[in-house]
Amino acid sequence: MGFKISVIEGDGIGPEIMKATIKVLELLNEKQGLGLEFKHVDAGDKAKEKYGEPLPNTSFEVIRNSHCCLKGPIGETAGSVIVPLRMKLDLYANIRPAVTLPSIASLFKDVDILIVRENTEGLYKGIEDKTDEYAFSVRVITRKKTERIAEEAYWRAAKRKRKVTVVHKANVLASCRLFREVCLEVSRRHPEIQTNELYVDNAAYQLIKNPLQFDVILVSNMFGDILSDEAAAVVGSLGLCPAANIGERFAIFEPVHGSAPDIPKEYGNPTAMMLAAKMMLEWLGEKHGEKKLFKAAQIIWKSICDVLREKKVRTPDIGGNSRTEEFASEVMGKISLYV
Ligand code: IPM
Ligand code: MN
Repeated sequence: MGFKISVIEGDGIGPEIMKATIKVLELLNEKQGLGLEFKHVDAGDKAKEKYGEPLPNTSFEVIRNSHCCLKGPIGETAGSVIVPLRMKLDLYANIRPAVTLPSIASLFKDVDILIVRENTEGLYKGIEDKTDEYAFSVRVITRKKTERIAEEAYWRAAKRKRKVTVVHKANVLASCRLFREVCLEVSRRHPEIQTNELYVDNAAYQLIKNPLQFDVILVSNMFGDILSDEAAAVVGSLGLCPAANIGERFAIFEPVHGSAPDIPKEYGNPTAMMLAAKMMLEWLGEKHGEKKLFKAAQIIWKSICDVLREKKVRTPDIGGNSRTEEFASEVMGKISLYV
């Protein structure tokens, strides 16, 4: 069976890390017969320059008609691309693992956290206004969407260490009180899973003080955005952390990080992007019952771990001076040993 993958290469370090990731996928595609076909689409800052809009409808249609989308980080127009995509395609679950990788200098060892972030409402709902004198953004929390993301978190926790931490600010915000109530209702349907709750400010503190206490963090949209960057720092670099935006029928895989305009574009760490591709293969494998996709995902994981463990080639964010391309060549060398 063939899989059409729409690809948004992104801005800044995006094109380089995407090129590196596609090379890895092409190698696996060729050796394992995965049936992946890539279709590049224009979106982001370059699309805005070319067509006057960062997400032209023609691009949206290609994305919507693909099996899933692999997306690089976008620059200035990031919010006008990914937020509408998440909403229009109802990609309600943003799944963000923060895991300790081999030989990475970090605050703690053996961190393994899964942030399950609601992805379609909260402060990102777009009910807002701004004048020179005042501005507001309405934080929308609904029972339906909270229940859906909470079920997702418990489903994932059941396959992990069976603990869910509900994060909110219910002592101040009414919207958080509903979020909390619904999450705790869902928790009662899953008595086999341990549940606790933290105010978001304390959660931010605990993430650095003792990240080993966390398994699954269940959190609303913007709090989840902030905590996922923090979790990336805890495991050593934003360059290591992938994200999956998942809906009933469609999904977009991307790094947690942005386009990193502050670093030379050929020095970005492609690990997060490659691990997003790994999550993509797992999602496709599960949806379509294809074991070889899982196997390919595992090969990406092992190959990246091997390269990091050897410490021969690493990008500046993790203490080296190698380029994206050099890291990718090493990963491909390892993949060749596994296929
Ligand atoms: C992320 C990003 C996006 C978000 C931006 C680009 C809209 O920071 O995916 O974490 O806030 O969700
Ligand atoms: Mn973010």
